[in-house]
Amino acid sequence: MRKPLISGNWKMNHNHFEAIQCVQKLAYLVGKEDFDRADVSIHPPFTDIRSVQTVIDADRLQFILGAQHCHWDDKGAFTGEVSPSFLSKLGVKYVICGHSERRELFGETDQMVANKVAAILRHGMTPIMCCGETLSERESGQTEAKVLGQVRAGLAGRKPEQVASMVIAYEPIWAIGTGRTATSDDAQHMCAAIRHAVAGLAGADAAASIRVQYGGSVKAGTIAELIAQPDVDGALVGGASLDPDEFARIAKLGA
Ligand code: PGA
Repeated sequence: MRKPLISGNWKMNHNHFEAIQCVQKLAYLVGKEDFDRADVSIHPPFTDIRSVQTVIDADRLQFILGAQHCHWDDKGAFTGEVSPSFLSKLGVKYVICGHSERRELFGETDQMVANKVAAILRHGMTPIMCCGETLSERESGQTEAKVLGQVRAGLAGRKPEQVASMVIAYEPIWAIGTGRTATSDDAQHMCAAIRHAVAGLAGADAAASIRVQYGGSVKAGTIAELIAQPDVDGALVGGASLDPDEFARIAKLGA
């Protein structure tokens, strides 16, 4: 049984004071019984991570600390980059990699994403590897070729037990931040196709264990139907994760 993972990707929002307030509000709203039903990770900007870690530790909160990005080398002359080893030292457990905003705005290639997946795993953390198609790719029938190509490239060289531990986030680019959500049928179709591709790459056990999230304008009102799909194991939530009330309802799986 795959436990759902709800991940709040704050993107470049909330300074560290706002981050602390947001986590403290969430702590009032999300209770033990909610964490029994779903894992909940929070992915603040780098400058907030230490502050959020301190709140989680001090109040023994069950939110799982995440990051949005990292480099694949442990150290070196990479001005502005952050090492995966620094993140693991801060207690980060989940690291998003290959988000479409990184791919499209900052030129991240499939090879860079594969390097990051390897580095995140090497440091004992879990990659949330994103994939997704543009609107024009969808309209020209390229969705599966694009998404499954990204999945194959990102998992290349990984052992089945590593793949089994990972999270893949299917995020159609036309649904990110637009208010347009894929239908739950579309989300199920692509999450199942991803799982099927994982079975071909890493075997049936890895495919049965890997968690596949849907992302793209997920809201409290849509999470229950998404999560009811057999191959949708959670959600990567952007805009709606900035509002503690809305994100808490998503973390409660819409209850
Ligand atoms: P959104 O973002 O929920 O604002 O569409 C999702 C994401 O980019 O991870």
